Amino acid sequence: MPAKKVDPHLFVVMGGTGDLMHRKLLPALARLHEANYLDQRSSVLGVARTPGMDDAGFRTWACDALAEEGMVSESLRRWCETSFYFEPLGHSDVKDYRGVARRIEKIEEATGLSGNRAFYLALPPAAFPTTITDLGKLGLNKSKGWTRLVIEKPFGRDLASAQELNALVHQYFDESQTYRIDHYLGKETVQNLLAFRFGNALFEPLWNRDRIDNIQITVAEELGIEKRAGYYETAGALRDMVQNHLTQLFTLTAMEAPASFDADAIRSEKVKVLRSLTPIEPENILFGQYTAGTINGEHVPGYHEEPGVAKESRVETFVALKLEIANWRWQGVPFYLRTGKRLPKRVTQIAVTFKQPPVSVFRSFDSCLVHSNVLIITLQPDEGFDLSFEVKSPGQPFRLETHNMHFRYDTPMPLAYQTLLLDVLAGDQTLFVHGDEVEASWRLYSPLLHEYRPMAHPYAAGTWGPNVAHTRMGQDGRSWILTALSKTKAQGKLHGD
Ligand SMILES: NC(=O)c1ccc[n+]([C@@H]2O[C@H](COP(=O)([O-])OP(=O)(O)OC[C@H]3O[C@@H](n4cnc5c(N)ncnc54)[C@H](OP(=O)(O)O)[C@@H]3O)[C@@H](O)[C@H]2O)c1
Repeated sequence: MPAKKVDPHLFVVMGGTGDLMHRKLLPALARLHEANYLDQRSSVLGVARTPGMDDAGFRTWACDALAEEGMVSESLRRWCETSFYFEPLGHSDVKDYRGVARRIEKIEEATGLSGNRAFYLALPPAAFPTTITDLGKLGLNKSKGWTRLVIEKPFGRDLASAQELNALVHQYFDESQTYRIDHYLGKETVQNLLAFRFGNALFEPLWNRDRIDNIQITVAEELGIEKRAGYYETAGALRDMVQNHLTQLFTLTAMEAPASFDADAIRSEKVKVLRSLTPIEPENILFGQYTAGTINGEHVPGYHEEPGVAKESRVETFVALKLEIANWRWQGVPFYLRTGKRLPKRVTQIAVTFKQPPVSVFRSFDSCLVHSNVLIITLQPDEGFDLSFEVKSPGQPFRLETHNMHFRYDTPMPLAYQTLLLDVLAGDQTLFVHGDEVEASWRLYSPLLHEYRPMAHPYAAGTWGPNVAHTRMGQDGRSWILTALSKTKAQGKLHGD
């Protein structure tokens, strides 16, 4: 595929002085600048209410933010000095956005830009509706060139609010202009999942109910809620992780082969998976909440002891659920998803467990167990694949042992936001979430938030969630796969820590 082409453009960051801009967008833009994707005319306009901020202040702020990420060079300093602008907003009414509209025209006139504009909503979600409305009312939803709207997660709090937000977006912007971000989709391994599935004839014939026993998707975090109680108390793990990141990994793992590698074909296959899901029964979902415990030898407080958390809070910091797809490929194959905070280690992985051989020819040998082949796709902390298989242990008695084939990228990976921003600027929507998809996902999870919200079982920080999560797996005759396979060496042991 040819390198992506980026037209000269103005990148407008609504919420240009926030944490997201500081830690993610700026470093990603800087890398695109260093890789020569951004021509000299391309510019960045930060917009926020931040008192006292102006062009000079914003340039210094951007340069300092890059330095904190270890990105210091004369070229980057010059880029910040010449390509960054700031427009203060005051209060969020239409009048203030007129200042933004005028500023955009002035910058385009001064730099010779021809009207290509990306508006990135790096704002608190409560500010999405007014900002979208104001952009639309001022005619900033179209221009002489292209206009694209990038919306951060979370997209809605439930089905009704996601539908409302979609309706508002579509009042002013076409779906083809709309880029709903889920930064997991920018990760190299997520895209590699598609390469792996559809670029190798080896696995696709096995990727179904005949050969696969179950699939587990784990997104585990060591961290607690840090200082984000204000956000987390209104979100919880289902909204924060499951509805978006885990569901994206799930649909990419389960979808049919798209007709081609383009946005419409891939996104339509992902929506089909969501529409084939059977509703989640109460016994197939459980919530947990961490109590005080120990991680890496350090005592950490429980959720209720975190600053800003209500004493009676029932907000879930752990979710485990079983999804069942009613289609020809997956009927009868459970997909187990789980995510939690304050788990023993940070890891994101998809574990595909294949069925055991129909008959064990080794059954006459004492303690000669046959383990299932397991394919583990790791997204964090190190991106790659492992495939376990059985070999004979040398010598006597006859025994089998599990070894693994192992692949890790050994080159520096692009940042997820770097990949996604490049796609926004190049007009490629493949790695962005379609409006239908976000609604289909909320349709699945909304009842769990409103109609039958599960109680949150306590689990000690530093453990793999509430005991009941393990008991339920045991009732299915399975266990959670707790670790990635060894990074360096074939191992005889796959399950357990
Ligand atoms: N930070 C992350 O790592 C991360 C990761 C994934 C998703 N997100 C999402 O990204 C968005 C931004 O997060 P953040 O962490 O950057 O938040 P943040 O640090 O609170 O920054 C918000 C930015 O928006 C501005 N702002 C606030 N209210 C505004 C309004 N009504 N109109 C215009 N500007 C306003 C703020 O500046 P003023 O208050 O001075 O106006 C600031 O520049 C959120 O939707 C979040 O869920 C963030």
